[in-house]
Amino acid sequence: MEAPFKVGGAVEPPYFVGREWDLEILERSARSLDQHFLILAPRRFGKTSLLLNLRRRLADEPSLLLPYVNCRDLAGPLDLYRLFARALIGELERKRGLKGLWERFRSVFGERVLRALESLEEIGGEIGEWGKVYLRFREREVEEGELVRAAFTFPRKVAERHRVGVAFLLDEFQEVAEFDGRIFSILKAEMDRPSRVRYFFSGSSLGLIRRIFLEEDSPLYLMVSRHRLGPLSREEALRFLRERFSAGGMRVESETLELVYELTGGIPFYLQKLGLVLFRGALLGGRREVGATEVDVAFAEMLAELDGEFEVRWLSEFSPLQRRILRALSQLGEAGVTEIAHHLGMRPSDISSTLTRLREAMVIERGERGYLVVDVVFARWLARGSQDRP
Ligand SMILES: Nc1ncnc2c1ncn2[C@@H]1O[C@H](COP(=O)(O)OP(=O)(O)OP(=O)(O)O)[C@@H](O)[C@H]1O
Ligand SMILES: [Mg+2]
Repeated sequence: MEAPFKVGGAVEPPYFVGREWDLEILERSARSLDQHFLILAPRRFGKTSLLLNLRRRLADEPSLLLPYVNCRDLAGPLDLYRLFARALIGELERKRGLKGLWERFRSVFGERVLRALESLEEIGGEIGEWGKVYLRFREREVEEGELVRAAFTFPRKVAERHRVGVAFLLDEFQEVAEFDGRIFSILKAEMDRPSRVRYFFSGSSLGLIRRIFLEEDSPLYLMVSRHRLGPLSREEALRFLRERFSAGGMRVESETLELVYELTGGIPFYLQKLGLVLFRGALLGGRREVGATEVDVAFAEMLAELDGEFEVRWLSEFSPLQRRILRALSQLGEAGVTEIAHHLGMRPSDISSTLTRLREAMVIERGERGYLVVDVVFARWLARGSQDRP
């Protein structure tokens, strides 16, 4: 029997739940191509799943291409060209019935130059021209920068030629921050031109994203509509858990589900993970129901499974002062600057810029009464082992 929960990787229904409102906004914008978007959420809130489900919703829309590229897969400008090409040409194939297009195009990456040139001649048009840029690069006639320019101008040309709209989905865009800054001026120039291309960026670090979008005096930041993706609402989370446990043949009381929601803060990844641990445990114990005691045990088990990863994050991602602040917050719950500073025996002015940085990294956020750690599971892990940690 297949487990009713899925942990890791993008998910689709029935493993994907909610996000109706977000999807509607994005879908409407993709259809009308009225603006660029920047979808912001911490890690594991479901950005990739959201983008791929947007794509699913518009799968039957022949005049709208939704190429998807995860910028985590890009090691440099070369990959940018390659993956942009694959995503865009793949969409053209699918939506315009141009079978074999990618197969022919990809010869530019491997085949001998003459053979590749033949393929490109067969393809012709602007796609053929586009491929030739790569061949010129192979022959060292043009630089890497030309590849980047080709990558970003291509969607517009395809849109014009094939009379389609393009909503380009660029997941984890902050990963591109390491690249040459020229990328952003090229992108900015493209975004400035009238065209039927819109970008849907996702990002999980506000600081990096802001740097990218403000770099080179190019206020990209002002050109995109920002969209925050939160955890799942209580309602969505409970509906999901109820439906999934029932699909797995498990009985669960409402209070137990509430407890799962509370412990995970509605963060999709943890909902699924805790769900899975609970389900697995029940199966192994030959039980058909899950109660509060099991949830506590499963939560501890989940923390143990995440321990290595949290440990690495703790040691590598944060400065000593950031760690002190996080440790304080994990104990205080929600707290204001003064309270945190007091707890640490410091002045508010000593920690305010560090707080800002943590907020930009979406590690903490402002609540009604002060700051709190966004990842509630990470916060619980921290609170539990706080004394033994550097
Ligand atoms: N809408 C959703 N409904 C149910 N579960 C979800 C949903 N979105 C995400 N998940 C769960 O969270 C996990 C991570 O989702 P996803 O990879 O889409 O998030 P992400 O924000 O892109 O994460 P990362 O920061 O690792 O790239 C999924 O494997 C799934 O278990
Ligand atoms: Mg992702």
